[in-house]
Amino acid sequence: MRYSKADAENLGADRCLLQNIVILTGAGISAESGLGTFRESDGLWEHHRVEDVATPEAFEADPDLVHRFYNVRRDQSAKARPNAAHIALARLEAGHPGRVRIITQNVDDLHERAGSRAVTHMHGALSGALCHGCGHRWPAPAVMSSTDTCPACGATQTRPDIVWFGEIPYGAEVIDPALAAADLFVAIGTSGQVYPAAAYAQHAARMGAHTIELNLATSANARDFAEIHIGPATELVPEWVEHVLTE
Ligand code: APR
Repeated sequence: MRYSKADAENLGADRCLLQNIVILTGAGISAESGLGTFRESDGLWEHHRVEDVATPEAFEADPDLVHRFYNVRRDQSAKARPNAAHIALARLEAGHPGRVRIITQNVDDLHERAGSRAVTHMHGALSGALCHGCGHRWPAPAVMSSTDTCPACGATQTRPDIVWFGEIPYGAEVIDPALAAADLFVAIGTSGQVYPAAAYAQHAARMGAHTIELNLATSANARDFAEIHIGPATELVPEWVEHVLTE
């Protein structure tokens, strides 16, 4: 069942119970599962230039290099395990009587493997392949290459189903109404440097949501949060979830 913000307010004492909770996650939530972040020291963007591996132009110029980059990440993601933060969010979704939606910038599937169901991958997913020619999507093999053919049209224009810089993020049809109806917006492990995700806290706050940041270091958009808690996700997220489920 879906509760709108007005429903929740009308229900007075039950408001907390029926809260719409929207959670934005970034690379920091998967860091303690062994997956690297992007912008921290030793992060992915320190070892690879964004413009060499994460733009449509890069793929056009050197598809094999781009495939190799994502093949490594797909392999790392498959070997990683959900950590206590992913597991706590799945517990929140299962136990909270209101609505819980995760919007993730991550391309790993650790939220799903922890048991979360309402997950929007705004930057795509390593588990997906996309035909640049006809737009067909299918599960990505463990190793993709520039000689793969699209199972629908046969073209050799297959790419990882990842949203690259300069492309439009996925899920606006889910994300926009979720932000508008949010009572509580929580950002976990994201540096707040990449838009549109970096604008979601401000947007949700303007629509009336309480905003919380859970992060190892304050983000670039820290001013948009009413509450900031600093620490590792595997500690902060289970504590926060416990608080929500028992309040
Ligand atoms: N617990 C909580 N937060 C952590 C942890 C941890 N154990 N480790 C790191 N962090 C935080 C860092 O403090 C930082 O704020 O995670 C954040 C990682 O920031 P980025 O590397 O910039 O990752 P993210 O915000 O997800 O990047 C957004 O940028 O390159 C693109 O498409 C890519 O989806 C990605 C987007």
